Amino acid sequence: MDLHSPLPLLGGLTPAQFMRRHWQKKPLLVRQAMPGMLPPVERGALFALAGSEDVESRLVRQTAKGWSLRHGPFPRRALPPLQQPGWSLLVQGVDLHHEGAHALMRQFGFLPDARLDDLMISYASDTGGVGPHFDSYDVFLLQASGRRRWSIGRQRDLELQPGVPLKILQNFEPEESFVLEPGDMLYLPPRYAHDGVAVGDDCMTCSIGLRSPAAAPLGADLLARIAEAQADELQDIPAVHYRDPSQEAVDRPAAMPAELQSFARKAVEAALRDPDAIDRALGESMTEPKSNVWFDAGELPERLEGVRLDRRTRMLYDARHLYINGESFRAGGRDATLMRRLADQRGLDARDLSRASEDALALLGDWCEAGWAHAV
Ligand code: SIN
Ligand code: CO
Repeated sequence: MDLHSPLPLLGGLTPAQFMRRHWQKKPLLVRQAMPGMLPPVERGALFALAGSEDVESRLVRQTAKGWSLRHGPFPRRALPPLQQPGWSLLVQGVDLHHEGAHALMRQFGFLPDARLDDLMISYASDTGGVGPHFDSYDVFLLQASGRRRWSIGRQRDLELQPGVPLKILQNFEPEESFVLEPGDMLYLPPRYAHDGVAVGDDCMTCSIGLRSPAAAPLGADLLARIAEAQADELQDIPAVHYRDPSQEAVDRPAAMPAELQSFARKAVEAALRDPDAIDRALGESMTEPKSNVWFDAGELPERLEGVRLDRRTRMLYDARHLYINGESFRAGGRDATLMRRLADQRGLDARDLSRASEDALALLGDWCEAGWAHAV
């Protein structure tokens, strides 16, 4: 992708300009970001996804009694009639199930893959919405069908209504409001307050959602991964045990010896001193498929003339490793260049593959067998 060419998707800004001026800073409204926009998934297919065990979906309703929230799966008969106003169905991770939805997400390829989360599609009847709220992540809200009025504001007071099953702002003070038509898009940075209300029937909105790990849970996850990797490595290394030839006799036997504390600290520091270990744990963590993702096993191809990653595959790399679906591989030289291209472009053609080593071809074969990639 040319980062210095204006994109209709960004209202004529180049990706570089968008990142500098708007990303994590201020909203951007783009009229006709995607001219001729059609929903990537039709209403019936969206409702079918909402009926599946493996898909996360929510039904939000606003009635005279207040807000209600239910979690899916929803058989078709569990959804309110289309003519009934005030309800909204939200389906998460549609890009994992539909190629068109996945392709739509790839248009945001000027953002690091590690930051992209999923494509959520909401369907709302007239006046439907999820109420005024803020999210912790950036979001691109792309109108796919029907119309929706977005009211937005830099809300300082983030207090939420008590006793409501959804996050609803107590005192929402919108500063701007606009009606989005199919193809229009609104970018919002994290914590920017917003309220989207369907204007008329058949309102479908695609949310291209970002993810940004929170420090404490990320740290905990990485520590667990590093510990697991260490446990594997330690099997081959002779143990170094604590020694205390200068230990004196004690009259308070329950007191922890200070030397043992220092020995423990050094052991933990040694485990963390290897920067590779942290990089690897991060790569594995960021490519770990979500718990509801399954790959359909494929076959070992006889000959590979081209390969493409499955839409569910997460693949990243850094200077020394490749990461794919929670696993890491050390990679260097020509194979690393090739595999990085696979990760960036999500595919390789025959010419690329003619330069691959036997080891790289064997790895790609394994990934095809696992359903992570497909021969083309
Ligand atoms: C919606 O599509 O109704 C909600 C999306 C959002 O507010 O983040
Ligand atoms: Co939101």
